[in-house]
Amino acid sequence: MNTRPSTRTNVANVLIIGAGAAGLRAAIAAHTAGAEVVVLGKRARKDAHTVLAAGGINAALGTRDPADSYGQHFADTLKEGYFLSDPRVVEIVVREAPAAVEELAEWGCAFARTPDGRLDQRYFGAHRYRRTCYAGDYTGRAMINTLDGKIAGLGIPVLEDQYVSRLLTSDGQCFGALAFDLMTGDRTVFLADAIVLAAGGHTRMWRKSSSRRDENNGDGMYLALEAGCRLADMELVQFHPTGMVAPEEMAGTLVTEAVRGEGGHLLNADGERFMTRYDPERMELSTRDRVAFANYTEIQEGRAGPNGGVFLDISHRGKDYILEKLPRMYRQFLEYQMLDISANPMEVAPTAHYSMGGVVVDPETHSTGVAGLYAAGEVTAGLHGANRLGGNSLTETIVYGRRAGEAAAAYSSSQDAQLRSRSTIGDAQDELSIFVHNGSEFARPLQRALRDVMWECCGVVRSEARINHGLQRVDELRGLLGEVDVRPSSEGYGDLAHALDLRASLVGAEASLLGALARRETRGAHIRLDHPDLDPALQLNFHTIRGDGGRLEVRSEPIAPVPDHMQGWAKDDEAIETTGRLLE
Ligand code: FUM
Repeated sequence: MNTRPSTRTNVANVLIIGAGAAGLRAAIAAHTAGAEVVVLGKRARKDAHTVLAAGGINAALGTRDPADSYGQHFADTLKEGYFLSDPRVVEIVVREAPAAVEELAEWGCAFARTPDGRLDQRYFGAHRYRRTCYAGDYTGRAMINTLDGKIAGLGIPVLEDQYVSRLLTSDGQCFGALAFDLMTGDRTVFLADAIVLAAGGHTRMWRKSSSRRDENNGDGMYLALEAGCRLADMELVQFHPTGMVAPEEMAGTLVTEAVRGEGGHLLNADGERFMTRYDPERMELSTRDRVAFANYTEIQEGRAGPNGGVFLDISHRGKDYILEKLPRMYRQFLEYQMLDISANPMEVAPTAHYSMGGVVVDPETHSTGVAGLYAAGEVTAGLHGANRLGGNSLTETIVYGRRAGEAAAAYSSSQDAQLRSRSTIGDAQDELSIFVHNGSEFARPLQRALRDVMWECCGVVRSEARINHGLQRVDELRGLLGEVDVRPSSEGYGDLAHALDLRASLVGAEASLLGALARRETRGAHIRLDHPDLDPALQLNFHTIRGDGGRLEVRSEPIAPVPDHMQGWAKDDEAIETTGRLLE
C-alpha cells in the first residue's frame, strides 16, 4: 500500500483542533469576530468527549441560594484546589460563568428550570452553595447539541474523522497541522494564521477511566509539547469516586456526582455509611479527592461488594424522581447490568476522570508560549489546582473557548501574510509515513499494558518506589513503539491512530510520573504514601519541558499572586484537612 496517500491543502484564518464544547465555543467566537474557521474532530460530529459530561455546569447565579456570588465560587475553587490554581484564571471563569451559561440557555440549551422559569441549580460536592446548572444527567450532551446547532447555523465547517499527527511550527510560530482521515487515510495540510488546540486530556491512559476508547490519550498535550509549549502539573489527575465496576468492558464508566448531589448515599459491604469517618460534615458531598480516597480505602480494607466496589444508593428517591433527574444513570445500569437503581444500589469504584494539569496558557487569552497557538478546555492547566470541583470543567470550556477563539481571530487579523514552511510540512509527512510498516507488536496490547502501569504506579495512591517502577516500565514500552505493526486496511487507518495515541500516551505517562515523583507531598488528588503531609513549600506548579537532548525535564514554577481585588476571597480560613487520609 502507498505509504503517502494523497494530500490536500486547506487554508483558513483559524483552525480549531477538537470538536468538544471548548472547540465549538472557540469556533463560534472566532467566526463572530470575522475569521474564516475550520473545526477538526476525531469522532463523528456531536460525539466528542463532552457528551459524557453528565451532572452539570457551574455559575454563581444564586437561583436556589441567593447568598452565592462569584467571589464565593472563586473561594471554593481556589481552596478546594489546594491553592495550586492560577488565581486570575479562576477569577475569569467565575466572573464570566453566569453570562456564559445564560448565553447557552438563550441559544436553546435545555437546562432544567425552576417552576418560575429560572435556571435550576443542584448540589455538587464541596461547593458552598447550589450553583450547578444541569440538563438531567446529560448536561454535556445538551451543550454539544446547542453549540453544534449554532455552528451549523453559522455555516462553520466541522470535519469529522480527522486525526492530527503534528502541529506545524517554524521559527517559534504555529501555522497549521497535518491530519489524516481515519477512514480513507487521505492527508490534509491545514494552514491557518492561528490555531486553537481543544483536544482534551490524558486520563484514558489509566486502566480505569471514564473516557471511552481512543479519546483522552494525551494526544493534545503531546502535540503542544512537541510544538514547543510547556505542560504543567501532569501528575494532578482527578479520580472520580464513582465509576462503574461491571461489566469489565464498562469498568470506569462515569456514575455522575449528580447521584450524590440528588441525595445518594455511599455504603460499604457492611451497610455502613462510611463517609461519617472521612468527612462527617459534608459526607457524600465532600471533595472528590476525599470521596475517591474514602471509596478506595474501603475497598482496600476489605469492605467491598462482590465486584470490588462500594455501594451508591439513590433508591430512596423513588423511580419517578430518578427518571427525571438521572435518566441516563437509570438507563445505563439497566442496559449494562440489568439493574434497576430505583430498587437496588449501584456498585462503584474510583476511576481516572480529569486532567487537572496540561498546557501552560496565558490567563487572559489562553495563548501558549508558541506564537499563533492557543488552547482551551481540558488540554490546559490553570483552573483546577490539585482537586477540581465538579461542574467547573464545563464552565471552563465555554468561558475560555470564547476567549481563545476571540484571541485567535484577533491574532489572525494582525498578520500580514500566512506563514508556510515546506520543510516542516515535509518532515511531518515523513514522520507519518515511517509509522506505516509491518512489525512484531500491536498498539492495543501495549496501550493496555501502559494503562495497567499507570493504574498501579500512578493511581489513587503513589509512592517513590511505585513511580520509579512506572518510569522503568514506560521506558520498556517506549522501546517497543518502533515495532508496532501499522497496516491501513479496508477497515481504515485505526492502526495508525492507535500507534500515534500510544506515542503520545508514553510521553504523557512519563510527564505524569516525573511530576508525581517531584511532588513529594500529599495534596488533593495526589496522594503519596511516603509523603503523607501537605508541604507548604510545594505550593507551586511543576512544568514539563523538552530539555537538552530531547529528554523530559520537570521544573518548579511559582504560582501567580492572587489579584489584589480578590484577596478577600483567597483566605484559607479553615485549615485543609490532610490527617486520617493514609492507607498504609
Ligand atoms: O460526576 C459528574 O457528573 C462529573 C462532572 C464533572 O466532572 O464536572
